[in-house]
Amino acid sequence: MSEESLVLSTIEGPIAILTLNRPQALNALSPALIDDLIRHLEACDADDTIRVIIITGAGRAFAAGADIKAMANATPIDMLTSGMIARWARIAAVRKPVIAAVNGYALGGGCELAMMCDIIIASENAQFGQPEINLGIIPGAGGTQRLTRALGPYRAMELILTGATISAQEALAHGLVCRVCPPESLLDEARRIAQTIATKSPLAVQLAKEAVRMAAETTVREGLAIELRNFYLLFASADQKEGMQAFIEKRAPNFSGR
Ligand code: CAA
Repeated sequence: MSEESLVLSTIEGPIAILTLNRPQALNALSPALIDDLIRHLEACDADDTIRVIIITGAGRAFAAGADIKAMANATPIDMLTSGMIARWARIAAVRKPVIAAVNGYALGGGCELAMMCDIIIASENAQFGQPEINLGIIPGAGGTQRLTRALGPYRAMELILTGATISAQEALAHGLVCRVCPPESLLDEARRIAQTIATKSPLAVQLAKEAVRMAAETTVREGLAIELRNFYLLFASADQKEGMQAFIEKRAPNFSGR
């Protein structure tokens, strides 16, 4: 773990903790930081020993957005050809479950990054919002779509048009966040959720993630088709045989990932 890295990686058995590490810029998501994050995420995705990934931020922010200083003078063609925002799609494409442990500001691209994760937990002092309107732009990494699905069209519209933020408690009430905890126990709470997921069959976890994502990203008809395909597919796995046999024999299952 190098202190100069833009993303710090700590491996704890089956859990990888990735910490956004530009605290002096409130973890503003510069192209270099995003590239580093993608590199770590894809390495974790390819590593069979890792089951769950946690993303958090160093200092008082999760991430205060895309790096405004890196795009202040950009032209549309610069934005297009650099793929500066388009390549964030690789974050959402990770197959393993990703938990966002939001420790402070999650604004603009920071809120969008959290919403690319599968589970969001927050510390009591976290704030969520899409303040791009204050910069004369709009969210560009999924905010108009994912926040709207999370909060409903009217509250999301209000936040996106006014640039206002919401507290962790309000995010909890809306279901954007599934737990709010004191800052000092945020990572332990994320670890607890990750540990539970890590005891499950990784195949079932991966296919469940894909099917749940479909509910938010496609029509019900397409989502149901993917769910049924994945459900059938798992009957080809040793883990399904083991999971059901263990239930019948009243013992804990021993999942192999096959
Ligand atoms: N980009 C670049 N630098 C940023 C940044 C960002 N998004 N957010 C904060 N910083 C920098 C500040 O410039 C400052 O740097 P200096 O010390 O060099 O001046 C440092 O981080 C600390 O920030 P502040 O002094 O502003 O801290 P604060 O406590 O007074 O305010 C804040 C905190 C309310 C979060 C404020 O920093 C802020 O409003 N940040 C910008 C939030 C924003 O507009 N995000 C959207 C970005 S656009 C986007 O994300 C597009 C997209 O959809 C992909």
